[in-house]
Amino acid sequence: MTDRAAIITGASSGIGLEIARVLGQEGHRLTIAARRPDKLEAAAEQLRAEGFEVLAVAGALQDEDAVARVVSEHRERYGRLDVLVNNAGVGSGAAVADIDTKRLDLQLGLNLRSTILFYREAVGLLREAGRQHRSALVVNTASITAKLGKPGLSVYAATKAGIVNWTASMHQELSAEGIKSTALCPGYVDTPMTDHAKGRVAAEAMMTPSDIAESVRFLLRVSPACCVPEIPFVRPGDPTA
Ligand SMILES: NC(=O)c1ccc[n+]([C@@H]2O[C@H](COP(=O)([O-])OP(=O)(O)OC[C@H]3O[C@@H](n4cnc5c(N)ncnc54)[C@H](OP(=O)(O)O)[C@@H]3O)[C@@H](O)[C@H]2O)c1
Repeated sequence: MTDRAAIITGASSGIGLEIARVLGQEGHRLTIAARRPDKLEAAAEQLRAEGFEVLAVAGALQDEDAVARVVSEHRERYGRLDVLVNNAGVGSGAAVADIDTKRLDLQLGLNLRSTILFYREAVGLLREAGRQHRSALVVNTASITAKLGKPGLSVYAATKAGIVNWTASMHQELSAEGIKSTALCPGYVDTPMTDHAKGRVAAEAMMTPSDIAESVRFLLRVSPACCVPEIPFVRPGDPTA
């Protein structure tokens, strides 16, 4: 699969960086995207040092123009797209009476709207890949909170539920064209995002980014006849997180 190419958002740390590594190992040329340029470039350097070809495109991905720029720079560089990973996300906790409009809009904009815009911008390239090998793949990082809701994290959980439902629609709309869509639904993973929770749940008791990223290797290896719309990941003894 050495000619294949992938876009991974939120790939400057945590789950996204690990998924980028797996895609590199599986023969993909990479475009990685995230918000802060310095952190993104450091991740790109790390991946290049491991032998992968990497284009880094920084931008605030709740912004429509930034989404379009990631896809067009990727198209210019590689000319094809086999795997799209919509992984950039933010979570911001608040009780319902205290929901801040800016944080509400950022979570809706980045976690949900941006994924929809990425599909719109990338679907032409994905269709070409689907025509070639019937296994173009879009992976959307949702959350176990999508399935269960979460008090105090309700906006985040609602955006992730939106992702699961959007993924199901895209599965129905595009899978016959060889474009598969999968929603990943993890509980706690040891990344910078869960630093706030590490007083309650030890880092060692959380899943690792690699636990989640290995599922992408599996998704790449199943036959064109096999679609996996959703994968939940939970910790022993705690089906909620
Ligand atoms: N960790 C968990 O327990 C867990 C569980 C379920 C689901 N998830 C989901 O997994 C995904 C990855 O999170 P993670 O845990 O790996 O956390 P992370 O290490 O903090 O990674 C988040 C990534 O998203 C990027 N990002 C944040 N805001 C952005 C913006 N406005 N525009 C573009 N990129 C932005 C970050 O870049 P900057 O650092 O430059 O902002 C970073 O690359 C998220 O969608 C998250 O909701 C995480």
